Amino acid sequence: MAMKGMNQQRGMFATKLGVLATTVGSAVGLGNIWRFPYEAGAHGGGAFMLCYLVFTLLLGIPVICAEFILGRGTRSNITGAFRRLAPKSKWWLAGYLGIFGALIIPGFYAVVASWTVEYFVQSSVGALDYATTAEYHEHFDQLASGTWRPLIWLLIFLGLNFLILIKGAKGIEKVSNVLMPLLFVILVAFCINSLTLEKAGEGLRFLFQPDFSKITGKVALSALGQSFFSLSIGIGCMTTYASYFKDDVPLGRTATTTALLDMAVAILSGIIIFPAVFTFGGSVEAGPKLVFEVLPNIFHHLPVGAFWSALFFFLLLLASLTSTISMHEIVIAFFVEEKGWSRKKATVVNCLIVLVLAVISSLSFGVLSDFKIFGLSFFNLLDYAASNVVMPIGAMLISIFIGWKVKKSFVREQMTNHGTIRFRMLGALVFLLRWVAPIAIFLIFLNSIGII
Ligand code: PHE
Repeated sequence: MAMKGMNQQRGMFATKLGVLATTVGSAVGLGNIWRFPYEAGAHGGGAFMLCYLVFTLLLGIPVICAEFILGRGTRSNITGAFRRLAPKSKWWLAGYLGIFGALIIPGFYAVVASWTVEYFVQSSVGALDYATTAEYHEHFDQLASGTWRPLIWLLIFLGLNFLILIKGAKGIEKVSNVLMPLLFVILVAFCINSLTLEKAGEGLRFLFQPDFSKITGKVALSALGQSFFSLSIGIGCMTTYASYFKDDVPLGRTATTTALLDMAVAILSGIIIFPAVFTFGGSVEAGPKLVFEVLPNIFHHLPVGAFWSALFFFLLLLASLTSTISMHEIVIAFFVEEKGWSRKKATVVNCLIVLVLAVISSLSFGVLSDFKIFGLSFFNLLDYAASNVVMPIGAMLISIFIGWKVKKSFVREQMTNHGTIRFRMLGALVFLLRWVAPIAIFLIFLNSIGII
């Protein structure tokens, strides 16, 4: 945990590869494999995909850079980072928005992760093997609407989080290093398999052929939310992780690689799912249960399907773990540095808050299914609020902060590691952060709520 100068108490990611593995570990998770396909399915396929790609490249990468600058430039948690750079202002409030997001996201995410745990266990014992999509549908509904079973898996999942978190930055790094490459390889294999399915062409057309008339404000906002959610930006996750980067980590390259790999995983996931939806039957608009109905059906058609299924859900579970850990880290770093709590106390309190939210979310598929807020179940409300409200607003504020409030020389120093490496895109980065990101996010936001 060597660290140059500054605050000796803070942990550090040991190697550059470790840095990449952890940022990719945060970014790649259920967002890519579970959320991307169902959001794309519900919002017109190709139209959504096009918006998603444009937003990730044009807004996502600059905003990751902004978060990296904020985090490594201050070596602080998200509220502390704003406070250090703009001490006499109210910018720290933007940090609190991040903390809020970092508490509500795992409140629904952990529920999906707990389904993954159950699917892993069931595949391992051969209890997840049916012949039709309808049966998988039934199976999922029964699981999700149960009261106690999902809660037990939830406790196990959050318990795992707790154990890794209590060890600090090093524990996170170790888990991520081994895991991500393996997940990638297996996704490519499944992708090739899906391309051989009977209606692969239809699936690919749905995903890649944009119908421009379908690009509405709502589709754009969902794609924006998906892009930010998938990249873990807008709530200070990348800021917190960057606060553990050493001085020689190249921020621009790390941001770009993270975004491209994250995008690749989402696209692979789409290529796995949609040919299968068209071939095996089912609705592209199935919502959050989409991949839980479709994936097991894909495995069912493979030789030694139960093995593939167990392996896949295990890797997905670990990928979710590296993402939830990064969400919790935002809050824990905040409690430790701003409130002076011990890491243990911070971890316990964070996990308890998440547990309460996650229990309500889980029950919203069963006994609490009639309890609606703004017409949404508790689970959907947390998901919508985080991805379509908190993250876009957070990302907009961070762009404005780094684009306008912070000196350009500070941005340059961080992007060039104090002049030791080259960064040719400084002008473009500042332009995107000053103008393009805030205006685009604002317009998409207004449009989607019907104001323009
Ligand atoms: N990006 C993660 C995923 O795609 C989710 C996440 C969101 C992680 C916000 C951290 C912060 O699964």
